Amino acid sequence: MDARRAVSSSLGATPQVFAHRGSSAALPEHTLAAYERAVTEGVDGFECDVRLTRDGHLVCIHDASITRTSNGRGRVTRLTLAELNRHDYSAWHREVLVANGGPPVVGEPTADDGILTLDRLLTLARGAGRPLRLLIETKHPSRYGGDVERRLVDLLARHGLTTGAGDGSGVSVAVMSFSIRALRRIRALAPAIPTVFLFDIPTPSVWSGRAPAGADLLGPSIRVIRYWPEMVRRAHERGVGVLVWTVNEPADITLVRALGVDGIISDRPADVLAALDRHPAGDSGGTGADGLSASTGRDGLSASTGRGGSPATRVGSPAPGGGRLGPCPSTTGVSSPG
Ligand code: G3P
Ligand code: CA
Repeated sequence: MDARRAVSSSLGATPQVFAHRGSSAALPEHTLAAYERAVTEGVDGFECDVRLTRDGHLVCIHDASITRTSNGRGRVTRLTLAELNRHDYSAWHREVLVANGGPPVVGEPTADDGILTLDRLLTLARGAGRPLRLLIETKHPSRYGGDVERRLVDLLARHGLTTGAGDGSGVSVAVMSFSIRALRRIRALAPAIPTVFLFDIPTPSVWSGRAPAGADLLGPSIRVIRYWPEMVRRAHERGVGVLVWTVNEPADITLVRALGVDGIISDRPADVLAALDRHPAGDSGGTGADGLSASTGRDGLSASTGRGGSPATRVGSPAPGGGRLGPCPSTTGVSSPG
């Protein structure tokens, strides 16, 4: 069976919660620490941006240059991995964290303060001890063009993640991009991997809930959803899942929850999980005797969130055709990868 199509079971459930660049409101974005924290917080998965280094490694970084997020300078594509690793990608945030009363990050830089490779992040996810889904965004334009997707598929194949069914450890991936050409390359190279078309400016086609050819799901910004909430219902009527970014504010969390989106991508995933009444294992969090941990929250929540109260809500019936994101990870508790 086409793994991308075997996913209708995910629709109609509680939205999956993804840490945007890790738990990046609390810790420096795209660092191992930010992703480890997200695992501990009980997320369903991560979002990360990837770029190719000069020597062909995929690294997790948003900007084309390292200036904002490290103590170095230069363009990612012009530097080798070894050169990128000479800089510290955590230090820039430490003062901000302390000033904001956030968790202290102290001590000498460690090997993990170098740039995070996608290989390392996949290893973290596979060692987390519970299912996780990675939403990997390829950044374009890139001077390496389609090599970004070719390298990505090679790496995912090495991790056993190109079948769409996951790697046996419960880890699965979807590839996202603002570039539909990039998604079509993924479709051609690894047809089982779900693809997500990102957009901040809707075209008439996506307004009507249609995913462009080569894309399975739609990834609108929260700005689009604020102005055009109806898009979610239209997408679901077409069997297209919707993942919304970057949802940080309480009012926006309330909005996307009421609309019944399939995934919520947030810099503050713990806030989103709390709003959904999902709490890490061991934290009763007011969820009652059964704890409604990440493992049990989905079905319980879908029955209790009153989503049928919103005109845009799907009243418990899965959209036809499936959202193609894959079944929700059925987590069995939250463990820190240590
Ligand atoms: O998850 C999609 C979102 O991250 C796209 O925007 O600029 O944060 O990569 P950006
Ligand atoms: Ca991104």
